[in-house]
Amino acid sequence: MVKKKACVFISGRGSNLRKIILNSNNYNFPLKINLIISNNKSAEGLKYAKKWSIPFLIFKNRELLSEKIVLKKLKDFRIDIIILAGYMKILSKKFIRSFGKKIINIHPSLLPKFKGLNTFERVLSNKEKKTGCTVHYVNEKLDGGKIIVKKFFYIKKTDNISTLKRKTQLLEYKAFSEALIKEFN
Ligand code: GAR
Repeated sequence: MVKKKACVFISGRGSNLRKIILNSNNYNFPLKINLIISNNKSAEGLKYAKKWSIPFLIFKNRELLSEKIVLKKLKDFRIDIIILAGYMKILSKKFIRSFGKKIINIHPSLLPKFKGLNTFERVLSNKEKKTGCTVHYVNEKLDGGKIIVKKFFYIKKTDNISTLKRKTQLLEYKAFSEALIKEFN
């Protein structure tokens, strides 16, 4: 099978990145991770780039120049798809337009509810009955692109921010894998 070339953008721990790499090592998975980009030089997830010898780049998001450098790298590596896996910066409209190919994001809420940051705090203070995660395409509106996969669980009285985060992340690993297979197989 000819795998599509993907670049994963991260900012922190990289547990979604790790799962995506493990999935991509599977013969039947439709993507290969050819490049990893982080906007944070101390992102823990960069250790996975080193572990699996995947080229990586640190992106200083402040400067327009950096976007140009990143676009050039994406072109050099012939990247077909960008996957945002815990990437905590907003990509500029110009960047999205210039890349011109598919960009996929995972968000820790049931979109369109709780776009943006601090989702677990807001889910709890809103006394939601359920929560989960959403894999969606990125467009120029924050967390607003077409939804690919959504997964949920019911919230217990004993849940707090850290248990919600843990439960959501376990669902994210499945949701990401399902969404990528669904869209690219
Ligand atoms: C994930 O839970 C993801 O949903 C969230 O960051 C976490 C990264 O974890 N993304 C966002 O909040 C995007 N707005 P990871 O680095 O361990 O994969």
